[in-house]
Amino acid sequence: MKRISLTQYLVEEQRLNNSIPAELRLLIEVVARACKTISHAVGKGALGEVLGSAETENIQGEVQKKLDILSNEILLEANEWGGHLAAMASEEMESIHLIPNRYPKGEYMLLFDPLDGSSNIDVNVSIGTIFSVLKAPDGMATPAEKDFLQAGTKQVAAGYALYGPQTMLVLTTGNGVNCFTLDREMGSWVLTQRNMTIPADTQEFAINASNTRHWYPPVTRYVNEMLAGSTGVRGKNFNMRWIASMVADVHRILNRGGIFMYPADAREPDKAGKLRLMYEANPMSLIIEQAGGAATNGQQRMLDIQPEKLHQRVAVFLGSKNEVERVTAYHHEK
Ligand code: AHG
Ligand code: MN
Ligand code: MN
Repeated sequence: MKRISLTQYLVEEQRLNNSIPAELRLLIEVVARACKTISHAVGKGALGEVLGSAETENIQGEVQKKLDILSNEILLEANEWGGHLAAMASEEMESIHLIPNRYPKGEYMLLFDPLDGSSNIDVNVSIGTIFSVLKAPDGMATPAEKDFLQAGTKQVAAGYALYGPQTMLVLTTGNGVNCFTLDREMGSWVLTQRNMTIPADTQEFAINASNTRHWYPPVTRYVNEMLAGSTGVRGKNFNMRWIASMVADVHRILNRGGIFMYPADAREPDKAGKLRLMYEANPMSLIIEQAGGAATNGQQRMLDIQPEKLHQRVAVFLGSKNEVERVTAYHHEK
């Protein structure tokens, strides 16, 4: 097999499709390198003393794990000095992170969920890193939170790293979705799947069913119809999966189809959902759309939502197109 490295892929993509300017290429390579470092720490586990709680809380009021904080620091440090960024934002930081004065600034803005699936860290189940890249608005002086509040359609790149039995990097720059596998001995990312596509139909769904009693009627109806199986209105059986790491659930869906749901529910009626729009839902929705799938908040296309806050939460329905369209239509019915 001829091996194509991430660098070669990015250089050739720029040459053929003019879609990856040099600064963006640098940004992607730096993020990929940081993910390699995180992967190494994840792989050490107890031997690297990275497991367990840090006993601090983030802006979402969630207790941070040691790896949440470490991964955040790795991404910040890796991305500060290259001159490709104007600012960064993260699930683990209340406000945006400016590039220190001693370094040059660039035109891109990077957002990330440094460690996704924190509840799985200590039990050795797949976790990941999610990232989204925006362009700084024209004429921006000192970056502020409002400069980040751009709809998902404005993302110039998005991706995730999956720390599972294999470490993978899934990337889109708006021209399809490609997957790279980390060659641990060589320390390089090798292109292993080109133009990933999601089947429009599926017989598999992902939702945390412990919240069933809190769901709103469109979600209850949709899930009940699937559970009714081959003798119900859907006329076929469905299987269920829930890893509780969005990265891992999305990766399965990219590979064999499915629908992922984290709806808003009556547990906390003031919250629009659990997942965060800007560094979880938007990058994943761009990847899913680029692979031929669909993503909505139940009401509208995810990527069209105009963000109002950096850490805003959102309901998420994403994956196989026909299923996402169905559950979204149920939300529109009175
Ligand atoms: P994070 O670890 O970054 O806070 O994200 C966890 C998210 C997501 O990855 C996953 O799909 C979901 O939380 C799981 O939530 P439940 O524990 O409510 O199932
Ligand atoms: Mn997350
Ligand atoms: Mn996280």
